[in-house]
Amino acid sequence: MKHVTCIEDLRQLHKRRVPKMFFDYADRGSYSEDTLRANRADLEAIKFRQRILVDVSKRDLSTTILGEPASMPLILAPVGLLGMQHGDGEIIACRAAQAAGIPFTLSTMSICSIEDVAANVAKPFWFQLYVMKDRGFIKALIERAIAAKCSALVLTVDLQMLGQRHADIKNGMTVPPEWTLSKFIDFATKPAWVAGMLRGKRRTFGNIAGHIKGTDDITALGTWTASQFDTTLNWKDVDWIRSIWPGKLILKGILDVEDANEAVKTGAQALVVSNHGGRQLDGAPSSIEALPEIVDAVGSRMEIMFDSGIRSGQDVMRALALGAKSCMIGRAYVHGLGGGGEAGVAKAIDIIRNELLTTMGLCGVNTIAEIDDHVLAI
Ligand code: GLV
Repeated sequence: MKHVTCIEDLRQLHKRRVPKMFFDYADRGSYSEDTLRANRADLEAIKFRQRILVDVSKRDLSTTILGEPASMPLILAPVGLLGMQHGDGEIIACRAAQAAGIPFTLSTMSICSIEDVAANVAKPFWFQLYVMKDRGFIKALIERAIAAKCSALVLTVDLQMLGQRHADIKNGMTVPPEWTLSKFIDFATKPAWVAGMLRGKRRTFGNIAGHIKGTDDITALGTWTASQFDTTLNWKDVDWIRSIWPGKLILKGILDVEDANEAVKTGAQALVVSNHGGRQLDGAPSSIEALPEIVDAVGSRMEIMFDSGIRSGQDVMRALALGAKSCMIGRAYVHGLGGGGEAGVAKAIDIIRNELLTTMGLCGVNTIAEIDDHVLAI
């Protein structure tokens, strides 16, 4: 890890150490990947205003996220299949987040279950919910998150169906992995990954397998999602979820001002401006393009979080400058997980922390609260 200086270095390690189908699952986007690229290009186009000779000796990244203290405005986003990037990936990533003083979000589509993670980490984590046709299962799943003392529920609202990821189909990505000769050869060249996998608790969807019919077999994600996810999901269902979940609710996957106004009416405490990392509606605007008008419309009534495209502390600063209160990272920490396990996730968080600290210093600001569009060069 000594020579790892940026998230791209972790990405290269991830690519070397993890079978192609799981690396690609995390790395790639949907269809032509226009939105995936726009997320990065639009962030990179935002320039900072360099300020000099300001006393920046007391820089402090600490903040609050949904009223809870956090060491910096960063959250580990829900990412499916972490346990396929590294054995016990969900537990490992959660531990790294908690050691760094930031929230971790467990995906519904995790390999380790809610209970596995709760039994192996020190503090509460957030739980992300996908709504499936079997509402009895969903009610039970929310109750399991309550029993595990999860401290927020993140309802993903932009994935009633899966935007096709060509790479997953071409790679024959299934959970658990289906044995073919090419996969066998790929796995044989990734011994550290195989060893980690053999030590891990599970190799299939821990929250789901055994709870819903037809989920115990080898499945391609697209086929499974199409058969299980509820395409009738609508705003009224948010009320239903709120009637079961008594805690903090975050709606993740909003890109439109009208939707943001609807989100306020649900009584959710926060929303995440996100296009799912360019994995869903290809051709949608970049997340950073959508952020300012959503902040203008509802920022005084809801906490606004930002997701999609963050690969550096500079990117976090850009999103905060445009009104986000905190940022989620997905790929940035998954590259750490695949590339180096718990130390790799810790490294990813550390890289972003140091980049943010330096960027603040060079822009002449000392606190997160001071960051607004004055740090940008127009
Ligand atoms: C699931 O959330 C995915 O993007 O694959």
